[in-house]
Amino acid sequence: MDKSKLIAEIRRLKQEKNAVILAHYYTLGEIQDIADFVGDSLALAQQAARSTADIIVMCGVHFMGETCKILCPDKKVLVPDLEAGCSLANSCPADEFGKFVKAHPGYTVLSYVNTTAAVKYYTDIVVTSGNALKIVNSLPKDEKIIFAPDRNLGGYINAVTGRNMLLWDGACHVHEQFSTEAILKLKAEHPGAKVLVHPECKRPVVLLADKVGSTAVLLQYAVADTECNDFIVATESGILHEMQKQAPHKNFIPVPPEVSEGSVGCSCNECAYMRLNTLQKLYDCLLNEKPEIEVDPAIIERAKLPIDRMLELSK
Ligand code: 13P
Ligand code: SF4
Repeated sequence: MDKSKLIAEIRRLKQEKNAVILAHYYTLGEIQDIADFVGDSLALAQQAARSTADIIVMCGVHFMGETCKILCPDKKVLVPDLEAGCSLANSCPADEFGKFVKAHPGYTVLSYVNTTAAVKYYTDIVVTSGNALKIVNSLPKDEKIIFAPDRNLGGYINAVTGRNMLLWDGACHVHEQFSTEAILKLKAEHPGAKVLVHPECKRPVVLLADKVGSTAVLLQYAVADTECNDFIVATESGILHEMQKQAPHKNFIPVPPEVSEGSVGCSCNECAYMRLNTLQKLYDCLLNEKPEIEVDPAIIERAKLPIDRMLELSK
């Protein structure tokens, strides 16, 4: 099927089945363009929670599909390719995390949304990069906190708040690629450009930022800025699609990944998992109503509590 036919068929099936298509900013531009809603992890969870559709198609990664399923257990939740995982979620296996939590009684457990449902089972409050700071600040200053799994986001929050949260040693392979050298080189080529950094990047990279935030926060900042036209973007390059769409006259410059020996020609500033979502797979999954996200009802019951707390604290 050619592309325009595929797009027409996706629209027809969506209507016919009362389905809604949610997409993350890191997915392919053509997926973002056909979605009913595009957002960061927080907005996608909020959108799922208020959806009246019978089917939610999550064009994102597996944990985002699980979050939808936990929030909407009675709906069918589809992800076009179940192989769309997340290196950060993988860096925190639930059995090891469960033991870690047990070994630290008296701690409040904060988990980044980039975790499996099984990790959320052990969690008190889920956070995203869009609300982590606000949620941590809402807790008493002397509260003992475990923060998992992203050591970079956790370290950033510790630095900003002066807290000493106990950090799980996980990271995202895409965001850890960005280097200060690459950013300083771009700054020299584009004097006056502002630097936008996702908090999953390493500390020295974050220190170069004019703005640190979730994908949605970086987008809003760049669009609203009336003084600057050039932005160096240190996050997954899929976000440039929406940035360019909302501010076509501005210049968005993706930070190239660190090229180490053996990685020549890699597109490491692209999340390969996110890009597993294609128009063809989106069409197939709407047509066949699979692959479907399944989560054990006992896990749903427990994992919903920290997500609901997050949504409540984000209002
Ligand atoms: P956001 O919540 O900022 O969209 O981030 C999600 C993510 O996976 C970042 O790598
Ligand atoms: Fe996970 Fe990193 Fe991809 Fe985000 S960019 S979904 S954290 S692997």
